Amino acid sequence: MNKNLSMFGVALLILTLVTAVILGFMAGPTSPLTWLLVAVLIALPFLHRKLSEKQYLVWKDEYSVGINSIDEQHKRLVNLINQLQTAVKYSTGETYEREALDELVDYTKTHFNYEEGLMEQNGYPDFEPHKAQHQAMIRKVEEVLAEYETNHDAAMKNALDYLGDWLINHINGTDKEYSSFLIEKGVK
Ligand SMILES: [Fe+2]
Ligand SMILES: [Fe+2]
Repeated sequence: MNKNLSMFGVALLILTLVTAVILGFMAGPTSPLTWLLVAVLIALPFLHRKLSEKQYLVWKDEYSVGINSIDEQHKRLVNLINQLQTAVKYSTGETYEREALDELVDYTKTHFNYEEGLMEQNGYPDFEPHKAQHQAMIRKVEEVLAEYETNHDAAMKNALDYLGDWLINHINGTDKEYSSFLIEKGVK
């Protein structure tokens, strides 16, 4: 949904609830429905915060690949996705959104180069299929960047959904497969 439209919907909901509460008190403050509406109004900020937190990625120790340098890069990628989420959520404007998206794409490429370098130098047997996954992800991101030129909101939503899911699945699956091999080679 368009961001402005969704904010308008929330504002309309709050206005409707406030009006209903005022009318309820005018009709007679003992009505349980009025007090139920008061409770809903009080709970709204809490519910809103809880729903907002769910949109952000949270690093978990179980995501660790056991190699400190790579874990630190993965954590930075999680932070950059969250930074992009913040830029979109608070409608910070096209310049900030674009900067956040560019920073994420640039750092993703830096991280992929680092990982691929380690795999290649150490003779990791699944280097090629792993690299192919990285390349497929970059192609998808480039599609999103092209879409951004014509449809900002849809492109950003697609980018966040795709990047968040892809990153966690890749770190927690494909990246973990090289852990023991690279650790045995002395990579830290
Ligand atoms: Fe990685
Ligand atoms: Fe990877």
